[in-house]
Amino acid sequence: MAEPVDMAAVAGAVLIDSAREAAANAHAPYSSFAVGAALLLDDGSVITGANFENASYGLSLCAETVAVATANAAGRLRDIVAIGVVGGRIENGGLAGTDPVRPCGRCRQILNEAAQIGGRDIAVHCGSADGSAIEHFTLAALLPHAFGPNDLGIDR
Ligand code: THU
Repeated sequence: MAEPVDMAAVAGAVLIDSAREAAANAHAPYSSFAVGAALLLDDGSVITGANFENASYGLSLCAETVAVATANAAGRLRDIVAIGVVGGRIENGGLAGTDPVRPCGRCRQILNEAAQIGGRDIAVHCGSADGSAIEHFTLAALLPHAFGPNDLGIDR
């Protein structure tokens, strides 16, 4: 009998590939660091985002935040089950780097809004630019004891 396929890991790898494609559309002329994010929804569809920097640096938006806001705009905030994230230095028209990119603190909080409104934890798959490293987390592990809509009496 063949070993059972780890479907969560397969979904993570697919999301990381989608995130890598999305990173190609990053607007990141200030940091020269491109990030892509891909959300898996509960019907199998995927919504992507890329970081969107601003000449007023502090206004820049991370890829994960762009993706979650895009899901919300499509009426799908409560349907997010997983996210893949990839990032790296923009070099020679491609992405370079050996370390997985993990969502920043603000993006963890943004993802927590979707998680609590959706009533589920979100799987977080992080990949390196060169494809050599993948890490798998849950949002609950990345943002323990989170403050969120539930604390304000808001749920689905
Ligand atoms: N960035 C993301 O898009 N997601 C993260 O989780 C970390 C950082 C972006 C923000 C900025 O445009 C660039 O990467 C360098 O910080």
